[in-house]
Amino acid sequence: MLRKHIRVLSLMMTMAMVIMLFPRVPFSFADDKDVYLEDESSIPKLLEVMTLEEKAALLAGDRDSQKLKGAAGSTLGDLYEKYGIPATSLPDGPAGVRIDPLPGGTAPDGTPLTRYATQFPNASARASTWNLDLLSKMGEAFGKELYYFGADLLLAPGMNIHRHPLNGRNFEYYSEDPLLSGKSSAAEIKGIQSKGVGTTIKHFAANNQEKSRHNLPTNVSQRALREIYLKGFEIAVKEASPWAIMTAYNQINGTSPSQNPELLQKIAREEWGFDGIFMTDWGGQGNASYWKEQPGNNTYSSMVKAGMDLSMPAGNADQIIAGYQAGFLTMEEIDAAVTRVLQYILKTPAFDGVKPSTDHNKYAEESEQAAFNTAIEGMVLLKNEKVKGKEVLPLTGGTIGTIGNATNNLVRGGAGSGNVNVDTSKLVHLARALRDTGATVIDATENNYPQVDSILPVGGFGGDPAYKEMKPTKEQLAKDIVNKSDSVIMTIRRGSSEGVDVAAEKGAYYLSDAEQYLIETASALCRKAKKPFIVVLSTGGPIEMESWKDKADAILLSWENGTVLGKPIAAVLTGKENPSGKLSTTFPIDVKGVAKNGYSYVPSTTFGESRVTYNEGIYVGYRYFDTFNVPVSYEFGYGMNYSDFHYSHPKLSAKKFDDSIKVSIDIKNTSKVAGKEVVQVYVGAPGKTMHKPVKELRAFGKTRELGKNEKQTLTFTLDAKSLASFDENRSAWVVEPGKYTVYIGASSKDIKHTLNFTVDKEIIVEKVNDVMKPVVEIDELVPDRSR
Ligand code: BGC
Repeated sequence: MLRKHIRVLSLMMTMAMVIMLFPRVPFSFADDKDVYLEDESSIPKLLEVMTLEEKAALLAGDRDSQKLKGAAGSTLGDLYEKYGIPATSLPDGPAGVRIDPLPGGTAPDGTPLTRYATQFPNASARASTWNLDLLSKMGEAFGKELYYFGADLLLAPGMNIHRHPLNGRNFEYYSEDPLLSGKSSAAEIKGIQSKGVGTTIKHFAANNQEKSRHNLPTNVSQRALREIYLKGFEIAVKEASPWAIMTAYNQINGTSPSQNPELLQKIAREEWGFDGIFMTDWGGQGNASYWKEQPGNNTYSSMVKAGMDLSMPAGNADQIIAGYQAGFLTMEEIDAAVTRVLQYILKTPAFDGVKPSTDHNKYAEESEQAAFNTAIEGMVLLKNEKVKGKEVLPLTGGTIGTIGNATNNLVRGGAGSGNVNVDTSKLVHLARALRDTGATVIDATENNYPQVDSILPVGGFGGDPAYKEMKPTKEQLAKDIVNKSDSVIMTIRRGSSEGVDVAAEKGAYYLSDAEQYLIETASALCRKAKKPFIVVLSTGGPIEMESWKDKADAILLSWENGTVLGKPIAAVLTGKENPSGKLSTTFPIDVKGVAKNGYSYVPSTTFGESRVTYNEGIYVGYRYFDTFNVPVSYEFGYGMNYSDFHYSHPKLSAKKFDDSIKVSIDIKNTSKVAGKEVVQVYVGAPGKTMHKPVKELRAFGKTRELGKNEKQTLTFTLDAKSLASFDENRSAWVVEPGKYTVYIGASSKDIKHTLNFTVDKEIIVEKVNDVMKPVVEIDELVPDRSR
């Protein structure tokens, strides 16, 4: 009520001003002036007084961000004076809020005002923490910044599956596994939304490559869709209720997601209970309608009919009106969408009158601490061999030599809508970060070595330009660096960008000749001198490692660390912190095809085409490598630690599965170094009535920090849904009867214990709609159990 009076008062004051300034301008109250957006109960009244034009206009976003400068879009604010419907701001993105760092205005000293957001580690790094509490806390820090800067609805998290290592946007996504993706995003969503700002999970769904990204016809089976590509979204919706879902650009089985009532209404709303708003990706209205050609069926009216709410970043009210006038679209359908948009607006900070701050980021320190903690737990120690009888990492004293231009040019994050405008003057790269820990560093980038072409330009939406690498002679490297140091660190960087996939070429997925030379030369010199040679990878996703990993004594995957950049890397290298990340995605031997038992990396055969059929079905990532016995460079779930953990006393709560079953395991730190361990629970199903992967991740957890000899029991609950597979013939999630194997592992390959239980009778866990059928025959990969 108070809000309404304030608005009426402000309207009257505005009118008084207008009358004073322009005494002859006639001014009359509109008939509907006393209907305002107040709360849920005011929505039906608004629907009565709003014109069709106004309703249609509200279903479109605004290209100019009306509220928050630099936000990717906003909702319409034209109806504020009339109905009290404010504009809301919709900024990207997946690793931090993407807003204009120059909000306008000047400080008292005349310099332009600046505001810089925090960039958090990229999603694959965050999922590699396997620590949901930590992600929730990071989400809270992120949420505070969003609220402070005036965001209403974040256009993230991105949660598409890493179907293929070369997808250019993998850096924005969590994992190749839907459970890890779903749980990680749910944790972050809960954290962010607890601070009053909404989230948008994207890109719904099966958006797994950038090539032909705006309209990629994608054919995928119902089972693969349900088990792999929708599963993470389902978890996020059910566990965390994101305020919005953004549809993907690509078509799925002949229809654009933004046009598909089966996906939007049947699956998301009806089955999962999604009660937020749908929005299109930017310009992703789609061109493949669900309905046959008929009067009034145009792009925008068929979207509304399908259940879409907001067309971003602009709409076409005329088409919606035409759809209505032709009888294709009903007023109920329009009102349903308008209602959802209004319900969303009621939840926003904008509705509460929160104004964007144009001041400095007052949460910078707090957010950086959250980003630092996340980076530490997400970094993956891939290798740590002994040199002169001692594990190479952490480095304890001595002079460190650093080589490679990336030492002082680490990758902060990917380009495109996932970029964050941070204060680049404050970034600390590796040489300085190491020095800041007290280490003595001889940095080869300070020498004037010849520079040669190395990394290919990334392209896309502002991805890295071509990049050179240093090329010292062997003698120079020996004299200047190796002889003067006690250990040598080489850093390799790979940028990434929306809009382009990773090239399977040297200087992109493969090492460049210059990097190869540097690795080989430095490694040989270090080995001869018995000095550790360490490689740091600053990259958002996998690169080829099999051909060179034996040259390094230790390898640390730092991912894209965002604002904190070199600091957590230096802390880990020098042992101030213990990394505890495990891979959220497989590092295959080679994406070009690993011929083992006649199989190559299956998705690579269709990757990068301008139409795509997911012939690999559910065999994505480790589900493929494990089931088809294809060796990998580093498996899903793998990561080392400065501590050692012992797994003991594996237990199942029963021998027979009833409604659920509990799995428990004791984890003991048997080393002197305090640390955390990620524990993974995979389940292998009988695979008699349906073909199944050898095992699938069904639960996971992370210990608290355990000191020397400290022990913790982790307990996991497996319910029927978590064991079920999707049976296309019955459109149901089904648990087949038979013997199940529980694998408790430190990775998907390093299985510490196996246990068994049986399911006596088939369980039909849930019957769902028989929708999203493929429109072409899909010749899907099926394991040959006789092999
Ligand atoms: C991207 C989305 C992003 C939007 C707004 C699109 O190109 O695919 O992920 O949220 O732009 O920037």
